[in-house]
This record gives sequence, structure tokens and C-alpha cells, in this order.
Amino acid sequence: MHDISDKSVSSPLSAGAHRAGARACANIALAKYWGKLDAALNLPETPSLSLTLEPLATETWVEFTENIPQDVLELDGRVATEAEVKRVRELLNRVRESSGLKLPARVQSHNSFPTAAGLASSASGFAALATAASRAAGLQLNEMQLSALARRSSASAARSIYGGFVELPAAQAGEAELSARQLARPEHWELSFVIAVIDDSSKAIGSTEAMELSKRTSPYYTAWVQTAGRLFSEVRQGVLEKNLSRVGVAMEQSALAMHGCAMASRPGVLYWRSATVNALQQIAELRRQGIEVWATIDAGPQVKALCRAADAAIVEAELSRMMGVIHTITARPGPGVKAL
Ligand code: DP6
Repeated sequence: MHDISDKSVSSPLSAGAHRAGARACANIALAKYWGKLDAALNLPETPSLSLTLEPLATETWVEFTENIPQDVLELDGRVATEAEVKRVRELLNRVRESSGLKLPARVQSHNSFPTAAGLASSASGFAALATAASRAAGLQLNEMQLSALARRSSASAARSIYGGFVELPAAQAGEAELSARQLARPEHWELSFVIAVIDDSSKAIGSTEAMELSKRTSPYYTAWVQTAGRLFSEVRQGVLEKNLSRVGVAMEQSALAMHGCAMASRPGVLYWRSATVNALQQIAELRRQGIEVWATIDAGPQVKALCRAADAAIVEAELSRMMGVIHTITARPGPGVKAL
């Protein structure tokens, strides 16, 4: 039996007992995930391989507390929309279910880069949230379990649990759990991503909705899924060999095939602006001049150029002076999720 003073110290409701924070970096896929085998379980139909990136990070704090009537979510200092709260609540409910904790949560999240602009904020966001929420609830999940929890909310978030080069396999029929795994540590290869920010407003159609539309209506969806597996293997091999042109050629094809599939949907999904095309052409021109640099594009107009760290300054100088490029961000291989 504890006496009263002892009890107040060990009480799970004492201040800070159910509070935890985490920091996760965004990632950019070299081989793209686009399409779900099972939408309810959020299982990807294509394998993907990404690079986790510093300094594009999300910091999230979660506190389970009886002081609020329901879950509260603050994103970059603003009150979140109902749709954002709904997605976060789904993850919190899974954490509440496995921990037995029934309290509402106050969630505060801060991004160091523009959200919802094709810079993969949902990846770092849900990786940080899965880690902070599970720790705040007293669960001790390993990286594989954290990755599976983050993946249920956003498949690309499964990859942000790990640092460096990370792969997420395609799901097999009948499979319910799926986690990403690290292929190589951040130190494996000194690469840079130079991100040309072309439009930092929110995208018209989110990736979840756009990939579902692609699956339902694009005549190229089946071809995309068949190609994605081969491109993934090429990127993977290129990363292990540190062969930049092998990675680059397959990475560009992965992005263009994914966008081709999306563009052929009904109605068409076109994320690009004219500056997106100009940046792609400028990157090809730099290659003709002898710089090893290749492009990828996610669900937004931004162009992300992959090159050796030693070439990043020249790539950045070339892209930042282009019309339609608002600014550039240079990112490097970053670490996995950290508890704060
Ligand atoms: C184009 O992970 O945002 O960035 O699982 O529905 O949340 P949901 O999708 P999400 O899709 C990312 C798509 C992509 C490619 C990639 O990161 O692999």
C-alpha cells in the first residue's frame, strides 16, 4: 500500500505524466508510392524508397489530459480544420485503444517548412505524432511498431521513422501489418536534395484522394503498378552501389510515370505549373553540362533535384534564379524520429 504522498507522485494523472514530444524529418521518395492495395488499412500497392531529410522537420507534443472535453489540435500556431482533426483523432484512438487510456489529447505540432505544398509534411507529421502519442500514453513501441502505426495514417510517414535511405515494401494480399525499414544510414552517401519551391500554397487535391482517383479511373494505373516494382529495384540497387546515374534515371522515371498515371485520371490531376516544366528542363541542361543531377516531383508543383552534396551550391544557384521559383531549400540525409 502507498501512502497518500507516495500516491500523488506516482499517479498517472500527475502533471506531465501523459505528455511527450517527438521530432521527425520529412522524406522524399526516390521510388514513389502511389496507389493503395487496401484503402481501409492504408496498405500501399507499390514499393517505395525514400531519403529522410534534415532540416525539414516536424516537432509534435501530445498531452492526454482530463482538462479538455475533446481532442484539440494546433498546427503551426493555428487551430486545425475538422478534416485535420479527424485524421489525427484516428491515430489517437488507436493509441487509446492499445494503452487503455481514455483521456482526450491536446496536440501541438510545428513544421519547419510549408505544409501541404508537396513537401511531404504528412510524412514527418504522422511519424512525430505516432511517436509522441504512443509515448505520452505510456506505450513502449519499437521502431517497427511505430512505423506501422504511422503508416496507417499516411503510408509515407512509415518511412520517416527511420533515418537515411528507407524502403517500404508493397503490401501482399491478406497482409494487415506493414512497416518500413532502413536500407542505409544517413552517412552512407553524401547527397543533397535542392528543392525548388514553385508554389507554397495548399494543393488542390491531396495525395490520398488523387491516388484513389488514379486507381479508379486512370487507364495507366496497372502499367504504373507494374513499372513501379522494377524502378524500385533499380533505385535500391543504385543506392547500395552509390551509383548516382542509376538512381537518378530510375528516380525521374518513377516520378514521371506516377504523374503520367495521375494526369490520365478522370478528371485529370495536374500538379505542375509552367515553372515545374522549366525546372525539369533546366536540370536536364545541367546534366548536359556535366553535373550529375536528377529531378523528382511529389503531389505538388515543387521540383526536387538530387545531386552530390558537393554540387548542391551550383544546382541551387541555377534553380533559384529561374522565373517562377520562389525560393530553394537544400536538404541532406537526416536522422530517424527522436523523442524530445
Ligand atoms: C507522391 O503518404 O501522402 O509523396 O498514405 O494516403 O497519406 P497517404 O498518402 P501519402 O502519399 C505520398 C505520395 C507521394 C510519393 C511518396 O512519398 O512515396
